[in-house]
Amino acid sequence: MSEYSQPLHPIEKKILKTLSSLEEVEIQELAKLSILSIDQVRRGVEWLKAKDLITVKENENEFYSLGEEGQRIIKTGLPERRLVNAVKKSGSSEEITKVSRELESEFAAALGIAKKNRWVRVDRNRLYLEKEHENREPEEDLLEKIAGLGRISRADIPPEELQTISSLTKRREGLIKETKEKTFRLALTQKGRSISSDAVADEIDEITPEILITGGWESRPLRAIDVTSPSPAVHAGRRHPMREFMDEVRETFLSLGFEEIYGPLSQTALWNFDALFIPQQHPAREMQDTFYLSKLKARLDDYADEIRAIRSAHEQGAGTGSRGWRYEWSVEEASRVVLRTHTTAITISYLAEKKPDEARVFSVGRVFRNEKSNYKHNPEFYQIEGVTVGEKVNVRNLLYLMTKFYSKLGFNEIKFWPTFFPYTEPSLQTMAYLEKSGRWMELGGMGVFRPEVTLPLGVKNPVLAWGLSLDRLVMLRYEINDIRQLFGANIGWLRKLKLM
Ligand code: PHE
Repeated sequence: MSEYSQPLHPIEKKILKTLSSLEEVEIQELAKLSILSIDQVRRGVEWLKAKDLITVKENENEFYSLGEEGQRIIKTGLPERRLVNAVKKSGSSEEITKVSRELESEFAAALGIAKKNRWVRVDRNRLYLEKEHENREPEEDLLEKIAGLGRISRADIPPEELQTISSLTKRREGLIKETKEKTFRLALTQKGRSISSDAVADEIDEITPEILITGGWESRPLRAIDVTSPSPAVHAGRRHPMREFMDEVRETFLSLGFEEIYGPLSQTALWNFDALFIPQQHPAREMQDTFYLSKLKARLDDYADEIRAIRSAHEQGAGTGSRGWRYEWSVEEASRVVLRTHTTAITISYLAEKKPDEARVFSVGRVFRNEKSNYKHNPEFYQIEGVTVGEKVNVRNLLYLMTKFYSKLGFNEIKFWPTFFPYTEPSLQTMAYLEKSGRWMELGGMGVFRPEVTLPLGVKNPVLAWGLSLDRLVMLRYEINDIRQLFGANIGWLRKLKLM
């Protein structure tokens, strides 16, 4: 059913099949030809009409059949024929009076017609047979035809015979009976014709025990029902594996007594860089690393105190025990707006606002870096971020927490390596071992925030901080080699993926 996708009922198919070999057909006739009951045909015709596959022309039609007189005449012949037969019986000539007695009142008319037809010739009261009597009259043929068919529709009578009908009707009452009837003639529409060829195929419409036992389905096309075809797949809606995993991460932190914090995707440089003691000349701030929303400038009026303290930390390390970065800090630079390059911006603005002595918070979110996309880098990815603030917390607690977190998610083979971040001391990174490639894969960074970070914001206690890659964990779990797989819309892969 190329063009027409709606499935057809077996009755509809039978009707289409029958109609495909006919120009037009009357509904009764269709029932006979398609071996359906008249009721089935009527129902099917309604459906097909609604689908614009067939049209039904209703018109009134006249039918001709033999009247009582006609029935009699078909046995005896028309009077002129009887006259000829009588003449034939008595040799080639006959006394007119003898024949006239036989034909009674019909004689005069019969003689007139027989003479006109040149069947007989009259000579001094005698009738002579002419050779032309062997020609048949159109009237005779038509009567026989009607007798044979029982009745004949005016629509089916050729024009030359219509003439004959009317002369027979006029000739004598009861010869021809005329009746009027409504008829419904069916024909395929353009659309119906285009799909009927499919319907004509000898399809199996329903599977019966016979078909299965005899294997009839092997030799006949199984368009409607293909018992050998696989059943259609049903795909229930599901969440993206990234989303699933994010929720698992959330639950893991919640189960460890953490609270989730949130923040916007765009951030001022103040929170994304400056509050983290990242010097304003640091390469990470360059355009080729960071997406700037260059038309925007933030108003930092509300943070006058923090700004004073941050400037002082950058310029001379005031009150932190270090000498700072030794340059002139610019508030202009701090008011630029970026797409956050790490979720640490959320952590730090939380610390600035709450100045907690104790805290356990985490966040999960998207971050952006101006990097070329390849199998292990994507300009946008997700981070799992958090801090523990407390009077007595230390690096050991951080390592324990991280190990616990990873093992809860099913990653047992991880280790820690020293590294550098401008905002932590000490600084560490987590690595996971990849059996397959025999390599260590970096999962994220962590450390204890430097006093240059915490003191300007009024946080007195040590802060353990981490920022981990979510995407790499998903890649490990689902054995994905290309990070871009997670950001595409590869439905086939998503459907097949088993949740773990
Ligand atoms: N922000 C760092 C990154 O994006 C990770 C980190 C967070 C490191 C917190 C130390 C402390 O890689």
